[in-house]
Amino acid sequence: MQSTREVENEIIKVSRSATLRFMNDLAGKRIVLGLTGGIACFKAAELCRSLVKEGAEVQVVMTEAAAQFITPVTMQALSGQPVFTSQWDAREGNNMAHINLSRNADAILIAPASADFMAKLIHGKADELLSLMCLARPLQTVPLILAPAMNREMWAHPATQRNVAQLRADGTHVLGVGQGEQACGETGDGRMLEAEEIVEELHAFWTPKVLQGQHVLITAGPTYEAIDPVRGITNLSSGKMGFAIARAARYAGAQVSLISGPVSLPTPRGVDRVDVRSALQMHDAVQMAAPLASIFIAAAAVADWRPANAAGQKIKKDGSGETPELSFVENPDILATVAHSERAQNGKLFCVGFAAESHDLLMHATAKRVRKGVPLLVGNIGPSAFGQDDNALLLVDAKGVKELPRDTKTKLAQDLVLEIAKRIGNIEVKKT
Ligand code: C5P
Repeated sequence: MQSTREVENEIIKVSRSATLRFMNDLAGKRIVLGLTGGIACFKAAELCRSLVKEGAEVQVVMTEAAAQFITPVTMQALSGQPVFTSQWDAREGNNMAHINLSRNADAILIAPASADFMAKLIHGKADELLSLMCLARPLQTVPLILAPAMNREMWAHPATQRNVAQLRADGTHVLGVGQGEQACGETGDGRMLEAEEIVEELHAFWTPKVLQGQHVLITAGPTYEAIDPVRGITNLSSGKMGFAIARAARYAGAQVSLISGPVSLPTPRGVDRVDVRSALQMHDAVQMAAPLASIFIAAAAVADWRPANAAGQKIKKDGSGETPELSFVENPDILATVAHSERAQNGKLFCVGFAAESHDLLMHATAKRVRKGVPLLVGNIGPSAFGQDDNALLLVDAKGVKELPRDTKTKLAQDLVLEIAKRIGNIEVKKT
C-alpha cells in the first residue's frame, strides 16, 4: 500500500518526455480512401495526410473523374501506397483489386462522395473499381462512410436527399456537409467537411457509445473578474482538459453542453458551447443548463473571489505612488450549488469536481470531495497540468482512489468518460 506522498510523487515524477505516449487514435486502422469526381478532391490530399499522421494505413482508390481533379501521383506520395484507379489493374495477382482491397479494411471512406456516385451506390451499380469495391465489400465487417461534396442545388435536390436517406437505410454512414462559399461561386450547403472534421467524425465513429442517452454539462477554462474595464484577475487554465472531456463525451454518444470561460480553443465538433467571462456569468449559465443535464463535470478554474466594486472607468495612476485599495467578495461555488440541488441529491445528476493542487493532492482531493458533496473528485497537480497537452489524474470516490497515470489530456479524457460511464451504470463492470 503506497502512502499519500508516494502516490503523489509518482504522478509528478514520471518524466513527461520519457513516458508520454502521444495519442494515435487511428493507429492500426486500415482505411480505403475513395475519391470521386469533384473539386473537393483537393481536400482529400489534406485528409489523406491527416489520416496517415494519426497512424492509419491508407489505401487510395480513385475514379477516373477524381483523377481529373487531383493526380494519383499526389495521393500515392501522401498515402505512401500505390493508388488504384482501374478494375483491370494487373498488379493484383488474381486481378481482383475490388475484392482484395476491401477484405482487410476497417472502413471504406469515400471523400469526396459525388452526387453521381451516391446515386450509383443505391442501385448497386459496379461499372468501375470504386463502386465495384463498395458493392463487393463484406457488409458486416467493412463499414462504408461517405463525405458528400457538391453544389448546394445538387445537395438540396430531392433526388440527392432521397439517395442519402436510402444509403442510410442500407447501413451506410453518411456524414453531414459543410456550409459556406462554394467553388461555383454560390453559397450554401454541400461543401465537403474539412479534413480535421472528417477525422473527428472517424474518431466518433469508432468510439464505443458508453454515454449514449446522457446529457453532459461541462464547465471549462478560467473565469475573469474585472477590476476595471481594462484590468482583471483570473486563474491559470487553458481549458484543454475540459475541452478534451467535452470531445470525448461527444464521441461516446452524449449530448454535450460546454460552458467556457475565456480560452482560445476551437469548439469540439457537435458540442454546444456557451462563452462566459466571470464566475457569476458561469454560475447563471450552469443554473440554466443543469436541469437538462444528467452528468455535470466542473473542470473550470473558477476564481474564488471577485473585486467587490469593479470600477466603471479605468483606474488612473496619478504619479503619487499610491496604490488602489482592492476588496473582494467570494464567488458562488457553482459545483457545490449544483451538487446540493434536488436532482443531484436524487441521483438524477451525477456530479464530478476537479481539484488543482500544488501539494498533498490526495489529502486535498479527498477533503474537497466531501466538502463539495460530489460522488467523484478528479485531482491533478496544477503547475504540471496548466496549459500542457498532458496531465496525470487521481480519481477519488467513496470507495477509494484510482490513478490515471500521465498521458495526453485526450487519452485521460477518454479514460475519465469510461470511469464515469461505469459509475452511472451505463456500462457493465466485470467483477474480478
Ligand atoms: O474549491 P476549489 O476551487 O478548489 O474547487 C475546485 C472545483 O470546484 C472544480 O471542480 C471547480 O470547477 C469547482 N468550482 C466551482 N465554483 C467555484 C469554485 C470552484 O464550480 N466558485
